[in-house]
Amino acid sequence: MSEERFSGKLGKEYNLVKLAYPHHDEFQEKLVEELDQHHGRWKNTSFHPHKQIVLEIGTGTGITTEQILRLTYFVHVDSIDNEPVMIAQAEEKLEKTKSSGKIENFYEITCQDVRDYFYEASVKPNFKQYDAVASAWTLHNLEQRERRDIYKGILHVLKPGGLFVNADKFGYNNEGYHYRTMIRQTKMILENLCKVGRTDLAVELVTHNLEDNHSNRVLKDEDTVAELTEIGFVDVKMTYRHLMEGVMVAKKPQRG
Ligand SMILES: C[S@@+](CC[C@H](N)C(=O)[O-])C[C@H]1O[C@@H](n2cnc3c(N)ncnc32)[C@H](O)[C@@H]1O
Repeated sequence: MSEERFSGKLGKEYNLVKLAYPHHDEFQEKLVEELDQHHGRWKNTSFHPHKQIVLEIGTGTGITTEQILRLTYFVHVDSIDNEPVMIAQAEEKLEKTKSSGKIENFYEITCQDVRDYFYEASVKPNFKQYDAVASAWTLHNLEQRERRDIYKGILHVLKPGGLFVNADKFGYNNEGYHYRTMIRQTKMILENLCKVGRTDLAVELVTHNLEDNHSNRVLKDEDTVAELTEIGFVDVKMTYRHLMEGVMVAKKPQRG
């Protein structure tokens, strides 16, 4: 299914979405913290013999990309997104940060559907290998059967021992808790966006979130741990949880 879910108002004004989520920044920081920890604390390193290559799935407006690039000089990010309106905002944002000297030119953004990207990865010999694959608020947009192929693709492109970190909207396998949390999250979004006079955006975002809850698409925490483990990842765990947001990490085994 090639549905583009960010081509409308939500995509054009995506930067306002963070007003709806007071935990937005700590959520993004947790993803970057996982990368930092995996690579042996870049923040405190003045020299690293090899640049780490990170694949980012879902560039959006470049919020996550910029955080990763700000972390260290010793990283290169290949980022993919299928929505030109989002990529244009990311390029503008990263260009500005670059010209203020806060990041280097160590990134490449490609406009491509992640499903096509991993199809190519599965058929092309000697496809690029990554030290880490990172994604924020993106994979929940896919249907479950497509997501499974993406997880397999991620395992395929990771180097042995490589890290997959997914900061995403994770529902709860406990159904009662799932619905109670969805209601709390919906109230939070409505209150925060209506307060700044953006009822229109609140309606878009709440509708988007209800669509995410469709039985073909909904991403659940315990199911994901089981699925990633079954596919062949190890050390799969959730390291951050707040309302519907969660950061899940998984590693490709060193051997096998
Ligand atoms: C909610 S944004 C998040 C972006 C950024 N990581 C952040 O946290 O701000 C999700 C992005 O994933 C992209 N996306 C969704 N489905 C995709 C797909 N099948 N292939 C490539 N990109 C996709 C959307 O276009 C959108 O820019």
